[in-house]
Amino acid sequence: MKCLKLMLVIGFALTISVSSYAQGAKYIGANGCKMCHNKPEKGAQHAQWLKTSHSKAYSKLDDAGKKNPDCLKCHSTAGSVNKSLIATLKVDEGVSCESCHGPGSMYKTAAIMKNREQSIAKGMIIPTEATCKACHTGKKPEGHPADKKPWNYAEFNKVINHPDPTLKK
Ligand code: HEC
Ligand code: HEC
Ligand code: HEC
Ligand code: HEC
Repeated sequence: MKCLKLMLVIGFALTISVSSYAQGAKYIGANGCKMCHNKPEKGAQHAQWLKTSHSKAYSKLDDAGKKNPDCLKCHSTAGSVNKSLIATLKVDEGVSCESCHGPGSMYKTAAIMKNREQSIAKGMIIPTEATCKACHTGKKPEGHPADKKPWNYAEFNKVINHPDPTLKK
């Protein structure tokens, strides 16, 4: 019985250390993903992202908005994360890859990226609706423009979709 308790304690400690493994991961910015994720035969995710309004979310703000942390927390990946976690991410990228996929410094190598489990252990996120709702809250600052369309995950996801046709599901 004592032995079982001890094993449970050790198991719990291991769970904690595994889940905090990606701690220290930093934000590298969309250019750090582009070199591998812009090949047409693999879906050119970077080019697809550039076509979405997420890549313009910062540049579309007026001068006051660009300086306002209350705007940047949704209109820029850099404005939404702890400054100490920023490596080469730039504020003018707007809402870039790592807002949805997590900070890339620890999963960005080809050896890790080829293995989904390892990528996730190093901080890569497979986004879900909850990822979007960090910003698509429906509650915006006073005077904020109304949503052009009411939130609908399936429909909004289609607009930003950037599948890799070579990936087996
Ligand atoms: C050195 C090349 C390289 C870099 C840099 C890189 N990736 Fe990847 N990534 C890959 C490879 C290889 C795969 C596996 C799929 C494939 O072969 O196309 C992959 C897969 C993925 C997947 C799909 C995971 C799955 O199993 O569904 C996501 C999401 C992803 N990368 C996001 C990113 C993001 C975001 C960045 C930048 C922060 C990034 N990658 C940087 C090479 C790279
Ligand atoms: C809680 C997250 C959030 C905050 C905070 C926020 N925004 Fe937004 N903003 C959004 C989202 C999401 C959209 C897209 C809405 C839609 O149409 O679906 C948007 C859209 C906009 C647009 C319209 C862009 C276009 O395509 O025409 C402007 C302008 C804008 N925001 C300005 C601001 C300013 C200025 C601030 C700070 C005072 C701010 N936002 C704060 C989330 C936010
Ligand atoms: C607004 C959120 C968002 C942004 C920004 C974003 N992605 Fe994604 N990405 C997603 C979602 C959602 C999926 C689909 C996840 C799933 O398989 O359910 C996805 C899937 C992927 C995949 C796997 C494709 C597949 O067929 O499974 C890759 C690779 C990827 N993204 C790379 C990138 C790169 C590189 C960038 C930046 C240039 C980027 N993403 C920006 C939300 C985003
Ligand atoms: C870090 C904040 C953030 C996250 C996370 C985010 N978005 Fe957005 N999204 C925005 C902002 C800000 C805009 C408005 C950009 C602009 O028009 O300048 C926007 C705009 C959009 C638009 C265009 C709406 C329109 O009518 O113009 C779609 C579609 C969209 N987002 C889908 C998604 C989906 C799907 C996810 C999750 C997979 C997601 N977003 C995650 C901040 C975010």
